[in-house]
Amino acid sequence: MMVLRILFPLLVALIQSLVIAALTDQQDFDALQSLKKLWENVPPNWEGADPCGNGWDGIECINSRVVSIKLLSINLTGQLSSDIQELSELETLDLSYNKDLTGSLPTTIGNMTKLSNLFLVGCGFSGPIPSSIGSLQELVFLSLNSNRFSGSIPPSIGLLSKLFWLDLADNKLSGTIPVSEGTTTGLDKLVHTKHFHFRKNQLSGEIPSQLFNSDMTLKHLLLENNLLTGNIPSTLGLVQTLEIVRLDKNSLNGSVPPNLNNLTSVLELYLANNKLTGPLPNLTGMNLLYYVDLSNNSFAASYVPAWFLTLEKLTSLIMEDTRIQGPLPVSLFSLIQLQKVVLRNNKINGTLTIGSSYSNRLQLIDLRNNTIDHFRPSTERAGQNVQIILAGNPICVEGGTETETETYCSIPQPTNDSYSTPPENCTPSSCSPDQISSPTCKCAHPYTGIIIFRTPFFSNLRDKSFFASLQKELILTFKFNNLPVDSVSLSNPTNDLDDYPVLNLQVFPSGQNYFNRTGISGIGFVLSNQTFKPYFFIGENYGYLDLATGSSKSSSSGIIIGAAAGGSVLFLLLLTAGIYAFRQKRRAEVAAKKNDPFGSWDPKTNSGGVPQLKGARCFSFEELKKYTNNFSEVNDVGSGGYGKVYRGTLSNGQLVAVKRARQGSRQGGLEFKTEIELLSRVHHKNVVSLVGFCFEQGEQMLVYEYIANGTLKDSLSGRSGIRLDWMRRLRIALGAARGLQYLHDLADPPVIHRDVKSTNILLDERLNAKVADFGLSKLMGEPERGHVTTQVKGTMGYLDPEYYMTQQLTEKSDVYGFGVLLHELLTARSPIEKGKYIVREVKLAMDKTKEMYNLQQILDPIIASSMAARSLEKFVDLALKCVEESGVDRPTMSEVAKGIENIMELAGLNPNAESASTSASYEGEKKGSENPYTNESLFDYSGAYPPSSAHD
Ligand SMILES: *[C@@H]1O[C@H](CO)[C@@H](O)[C@H](O)[C@H]1NC(C)=O
Ligand SMILES: *[C@@H]1O[C@H](CO)[C@@H](O)[C@H](O)[C@H]1NC(C)=O
Ligand SMILES: *[C@@H]1O[C@H](CO)[C@@H](O)[C@H](O)[C@H]1NC(C)=O
Ligand SMILES: *[C@@H]1O[C@H](CO)[C@@H](O)[C@H](O)[C@H]1NC(C)=O
Ligand SMILES: *[C@@H]1O[C@H](CO)[C@@H](O)[C@H](O)[C@H]1NC(C)=O
Repeated sequence: MMVLRILFPLLVALIQSLVIAALTDQQDFDALQSLKKLWENVPPNWEGADPCGNGWDGIECINSRVVSIKLLSINLTGQLSSDIQELSELETLDLSYNKDLTGSLPTTIGNMTKLSNLFLVGCGFSGPIPSSIGSLQELVFLSLNSNRFSGSIPPSIGLLSKLFWLDLADNKLSGTIPVSEGTTTGLDKLVHTKHFHFRKNQLSGEIPSQLFNSDMTLKHLLLENNLLTGNIPSTLGLVQTLEIVRLDKNSLNGSVPPNLNNLTSVLELYLANNKLTGPLPNLTGMNLLYYVDLSNNSFAASYVPAWFLTLEKLTSLIMEDTRIQGPLPVSLFSLIQLQKVVLRNNKINGTLTIGSSYSNRLQLIDLRNNTIDHFRPSTERAGQNVQIILAGNPICVEGGTETETETYCSIPQPTNDSYSTPPENCTPSSCSPDQISSPTCKCAHPYTGIIIFRTPFFSNLRDKSFFASLQKELILTFKFNNLPVDSVSLSNPTNDLDDYPVLNLQVFPSGQNYFNRTGISGIGFVLSNQTFKPYFFIGENYGYLDLATGSSKSSSSGIIIGAAAGGSVLFLLLLTAGIYAFRQKRRAEVAAKKNDPFGSWDPKTNSGGVPQLKGARCFSFEELKKYTNNFSEVNDVGSGGYGKVYRGTLSNGQLVAVKRARQGSRQGGLEFKTEIELLSRVHHKNVVSLVGFCFEQGEQMLVYEYIANGTLKDSLSGRSGIRLDWMRRLRIALGAARGLQYLHDLADPPVIHRDVKSTNILLDERLNAKVADFGLSKLMGEPERGHVTTQVKGTMGYLDPEYYMTQQLTEKSDVYGFGVLLHELLTARSPIEKGKYIVREVKLAMDKTKEMYNLQQILDPIIASSMAARSLEKFVDLALKCVEESGVDRPTMSEVAKGIENIMELAGLNPNAESASTSASYEGEKKGSENPYTNESLFDYSGAYPPSSAHD
């Protein structure tokens, strides 16, 4: 047949194109099919043969390979297929909050050698943790908490040399904590791991003394609520990096090793509810301690220890039944941060005197069941509401000097007044029974779950400002991750059975009244990964996903089957090809619509109010072409990976810099819109501001104010001809620090710059520093892949080593870059010059015992003569603090700015004088950090809880 001979090659080509069109690697597809076979409730779009090309919910690919699976809180039911090992490029697996995901973790998981993030939080997995997990050499985060895993902790976990986070809490693990023995490796080898979270298991035996060594960098050791026995090993004193030590609720005995107070970084110490004997531990020297709980042990009787008065950061002192005797010194209550003193069931005697200079944070003094016979309340500050409990003391029993009618003699009833975050200036809607009125008073189906705090430090859950700041922090986190969240409510603070503070979380959708699967997984992932927060989240199944899918199932397969029954192969092939072409076209159209957020918006008439910009205007391509003289070479003032920057003059005479993205670096329209909305909200005198943008004719351009004197780098290198003396450098440092501080603390949502360096600090005509290009690596770079696996971006020489290692981006990465910049200001050298790293060079040359720290040789000659030695030394101290290896040890940008102000005062300069920034110019309200509960830094920590104001 002639027709067939002509058509046949065409058909072959068509079939080939169909096969090629399936993007996904066959092995990955087969593996997903196998997973799907054992699961109920997989997303309904898990159909067809092309997970990557068809955008299966929860799957992310790079090219044809599946690199990430995130399916959270969708009631995934069934078991994990051992064929998961075939996903050999998988880096992230997060199946958290699917309670009905049961069975054991297949041993084949050990073959997934690219896996770096494994999150299976709050599922129903049981059986042993397979020893093969030790083969996952890339693993950085391992969170298996809140399952039913049993058996012992596999020693092979000790092989995971990149592991940063190990959370096995809340399982049924038993046996001893494995340490190296002969040729087997144990947890003592995990010298890069910062977190051991093993609470609430059935671990037994002694804490092996080999577990600890001085190479470790552990910050959190959470072993509470197990069955551990024996002594606390004295080797614990070798792990100098420890910040939180929880050994409470075990059966530990013997005396506490006297070198415990060698651990001078510890912030919280819990030894309560054990069988410890010997003398009361001497905590002298642990000067950062703010939470101490030594209750319910069998320490030898002792007088009130002297260290009570030396721990200046102390907020909570809890020592019930520890056999302390003698009177309480009045100066205890004037420790400046003190909130809570609980010394029940001891032998404290004499007169209780509160004095008048007690901490104004003081809330509770609980001394019930002691032998106090007099009480001298503070007369001057009688109005202040400190709860004092003296029930069970001689003063309160009949015949004592006081009657039982005094309020401090009664035992307060536990209050169960429930609190929840209030609606935002609106009247709650009355909703149908299955919907809930959101804080913005819209009826919707929220995503719900509970937040559990890892330590009782956060026990003051009825503090409204605490709720408000946690609420704000969560919303910002969701917005920062571009999740469709309208609002968040928190309610019902209580303590769970194990006394951990818990509260309920409801997350409300924006746009619609329910979330789709991508939304739920995104929110769940942000919350399952709260590895830098003092709390963790356990989500519930989200039952309203079917609202999102409706009944739009494809019917094409029905047509194909019908046609095949008709008998004509040719017809079938043509039809298939036709349907394919039609679907491709539809998909292309849908995609194009998605990519043009301004599709229905006419920029010229400014109608519709989309996008929401504050002050930035929309330029047409023609306008910018005119203003830059047709993008002429003469006006080309710089270029980079993203494209070129042109100088332009607007019709009103204003000078602008136009940043024009080149073809390959353009991003999706929606991201572009989100980004300009964000940039347009940023207004500070030390931050370059966005004048407008252009999104037309396939172009993406950003229009900034033009900064006359170019980059700081140009001035330091002498290229610009501007001479920067010491005074000017201090002013520039201060301006840049304030700009970054604004981005971190006051911009809404907060912005992490990601690329702090001397070419991104611009100088205006009065040499005011202006921070430029923030967030641009996000704007102009590849799309982001979640919080944890954010690809490391930035510039060599300025890169935060911790960010590099953990890929967890925080404000402290900017602080690191800023520290390198301070080194540049000192030396006028590039961060890496002739293979030498400036930070290392300064450290090598430095001798603190000598004048100017012996740095004369390495200083920029322009400043070497003009500076005051004292201010230089302080400046070097600050610069080095900023480049501390660990983010927690670095100051925040606001502390840096304050540090520079102090240095300027030392050098006889007024930090707020003309041509430097005036501190009153911040837009927005300055955040109060008086009360630790309202301190933003409260929620961001890696290892540290407040008040160390950690942000890493
Ligand atoms: C990994 O794969 C190899 C070859 O397919 C197999 O022999 C081995 O048992 C697997 N390892 C694990 C831990 O499953
Ligand atoms: C105390 O800490 C130092 C490091 O600061 C360490 O060298 C020393 O071995 C520790 N001492 C004891 C007894 O653990
Ligand atoms: C506690 O330790 C400090 C410093 O190590 C020491 O000066 C003090 O005498 C010790 N106190 C007691 C009661 O042992
Ligand atoms: C307090 O108790 C100690 C010993 O328990 C005793 O020596 C002292 O005299 C008592 N002080 C008062 C004021 O009762
Ligand atoms: C979860 O799925 C199971 C069956 O797969 C179903 O019986 C159950 O009702 C679902 N639960 C929720 C909360 O949707």
